[in-house]
Amino acid sequence: MWILGVSTVLAVILSLLSGRWLSNIIMRPISNMINTMEDIERSGVPKKIPIYKDTKDELQTLANTFNRMIDRLEENFEKQSQFVSDASHELKTPLTVIKSYANLLRRHGLEDKEITEEAIQAIHSEATRIQKMTETFLEVASIEKEIELEMSVVNLVSFFQMILKQMKQVYKREISLHYEESPILIMADELKIKQVIIILLDNAIKYSHDKIEVFLVKNGDHVIVRIKDYGIGIPQEEIRHIFERFYRVDKARSRETGGSGLGLYIAKSIMKLHKGEIKIKSNEGEGTEVELILSASLEL
Ligand SMILES: Nc1ncnc2c1ncn2[C@@H]1O[C@H](COP(=O)(O)OP(=O)(O)OP(=O)(O)O)[C@@H](O)[C@H]1O
Ligand SMILES: [Mg+2]
Repeated sequence: MWILGVSTVLAVILSLLSGRWLSNIIMRPISNMINTMEDIERSGVPKKIPIYKDTKDELQTLANTFNRMIDRLEENFEKQSQFVSDASHELKTPLTVIKSYANLLRRHGLEDKEITEEAIQAIHSEATRIQKMTETFLEVASIEKEIELEMSVVNLVSFFQMILKQMKQVYKREISLHYEESPILIMADELKIKQVIIILLDNAIKYSHDKIEVFLVKNGDHVIVRIKDYGIGIPQEEIRHIFERFYRVDKARSRETGGSGLGLYIAKSIMKLHKGEIKIKSNEGEGTEVELILSASLEL
């Protein structure tokens, strides 16, 4: 009886202790997670769950998955705040111009006709610039949401014929279209691809004075679009930067032609949504060639 009693008490104590030890092992990571999540809820700032030991169990997999999700959120968070600060920086210059001209008008009144005219002209053109910029900002915001594309079969030959006709009308420039077969079909979101093409043609028109050529080539299950100009070109060391947001090769020159440096960034984002590619070859003083690679459509 005595032995039975002692061993029962010992067994109870042992099982209590090991139960505690086991629940500690399981509960610690869970309470860690709860703490981190409560922290995030309170501060609104994404934060990772600390992982102290490599246990390779389900709980660690859960924590790792959570941390990966936080990584993505942080990336987006970073991107957004960078965009807000870049955008406000871009808006600052035209707003300063407007403000100083408004001040000038306030001080000198409307006596001096020449100053008045200059001020009104400047205010009008800077306000137009801001208006265009905000429209582009909205476009960037909508593309960064990675919206669903509305895919359909597009015949690039007739598509380009239509766009070039409109562009020639507006800009009075020589733009030729070359293709070896027709139709050339791709699977794409028609409006978004049109936006890419217009961004590229707009650059070719802005940064060159000579003819512009467009080539359409079908290559197996891909279609290649080349837009070639013979203008000022881009220095080699700048090419890798031109897809960045707000990047312009020569601020003074780009200011004259009136751009925000978002065109190629938008074009690249749209091509990424299409799982396509955009490449640029350029020689300073000789010209620029932009190449788009898209998936051909197998449907007829
Ligand atoms: N075809 C080209 N020839 C020479 N330089 C170019 C050409 N295309 C782009 N660039 C250079 O790359 C920069 C970035 O082009 P991007 O289209 O992104 O901006 P932007 O034309 O300055 O402004 P936006 O397109 O937003 O109105 C331009 O400022 C210009 O310096
Ligand atoms: Mg542009």
